[in-house]
Amino acid sequence: MQVLVIGSGGREHALAWKIAQSPKVAKVWAAPGNAGISEVAESVNISASDIRPLADLAERKRIDLTVVGPEVALTLGIVDEFERRGLRIFGPSKDAAVIEGSKVFAKNLMKKYQIPSGFFQSFYRAEDARRYIQDVGAPIVVKADGLAAGKGAIVCMEVSEALDAVKMIMEERVFGDAGERVVVEEYLDGEEASFLAFTDGETVLPMASSQDHKRVLDDDHGPNTGGMGAYSPAPVITESVHKQVMKRVMIPAVKGMAAEGRRYKGVLYAGLMIKAGEVKVLEFNARFGDPEAQPLLIRMESDLVPILEAVVEGRLNGKTIEWKSGPSVCVVMASAGYPGPYEKGYPITGLREAASEPGVLVFHAGTSRKNDQVVTAGGRVLGVTAFGRDIRDAIAVAYRAVKKIHWEGAHYRTDIGRRALDRTS
Ligand code: AMP
Ligand code: GLY
Repeated sequence: MQVLVIGSGGREHALAWKIAQSPKVAKVWAAPGNAGISEVAESVNISASDIRPLADLAERKRIDLTVVGPEVALTLGIVDEFERRGLRIFGPSKDAAVIEGSKVFAKNLMKKYQIPSGFFQSFYRAEDARRYIQDVGAPIVVKADGLAAGKGAIVCMEVSEALDAVKMIMEERVFGDAGERVVVEEYLDGEEASFLAFTDGETVLPMASSQDHKRVLDDDHGPNTGGMGAYSPAPVITESVHKQVMKRVMIPAVKGMAAEGRRYKGVLYAGLMIKAGEVKVLEFNARFGDPEAQPLLIRMESDLVPILEAVVEGRLNGKTIEWKSGPSVCVVMASAGYPGPYEKGYPITGLREAASEPGVLVFHAGTSRKNDQVVTAGGRVLGVTAFGRDIRDAIAVAYRAVKKIHWEGAHYRTDIGRRALDRTS
């Protein structure tokens, strides 16, 4: 069969790499892809949000299955368009992707189906939001309702910061229409983890656990990013926490979506805060995490494609996934300036040397090919991903590979995986 992967990040490179290994797959396509993806797939230069041209491509090339990476395409209704044309596609419909597309929707869903989460209120009017913030005090979190490329959540330790956040989101509209409404919610303390599961709308098949590193600098300092690194498994997700997440979060969310007439199929990703073994949900995402997908997919022993097909066809019941027992770590290398403005086009050296380290895969996030060179083309540029015998080994292997890669201004965190190390040593 032929499979099309939509997107151009590290997550999509990992997906294309994993799908290309399936004995069922003769050819992988990608749109728009990047320099790394082009090594395992034929890339076609159509943006991930150009839904009709993507569906035209799938028809023209007789694609058997399309897999969607980014949330924007999902909330624009790419799945609905493909299904209207009788094309098979992996991901939630527009009505279901709203679980990520609207924070107000997600918080109301959690409240209605008693999924543990912080208290909240939503507001259309800035003055009402301000009054509420004055009432409840800080610390508090202000979030734009709509999609804001992972930057829409502002954690405020002081009331004045929260008032500024309301002004920025609702009045200055820095996230555009995403800021028409805000959610003001309880600040939750603890350790974060990512819990991803496949679901066909009924059965929930969990993946291995993982943990992201949101802040740009070591020790969780600096502004939030799309994610500076990840590892799997996350020791904070003990067996009892896992059971709690399935019973109190994942299953009620999938059942709740079905009860709302928004049957959810695809990957459901819960961003969790865990404190003293108690779990609360920060947010839901409608897709694989990036960079979580990179360490997860290199640990997946099973063929991914039959699982994707079972989700699309509603026959996930009875399916299982085998995982490699050793852990994996992904270190993101970013452009100077990221997550703020950055320049592109710097030549990258050492890619081949890094990839030749045993157990290492260098997934490309923001790269392109210029003449015969791979150059930077995004904020997050590479996800250097490694297996290890144990977490210490995986971290060492990943950083050994990172040190072989260079371009002007490259930066990365030096503490990816340290939390897991602290918990296991
Ligand atoms: P979100 O876009 O909702 O994932 O939020 C981005 C990041 O902001 C999360 O990964 C957390 O680090 C932080 N965050 C979001 N909501 C809260 C909350 N209620 N309490 C504490 N931190 C939060
Ligand atoms: N790594 C966070 C996300 O994918 O949303």
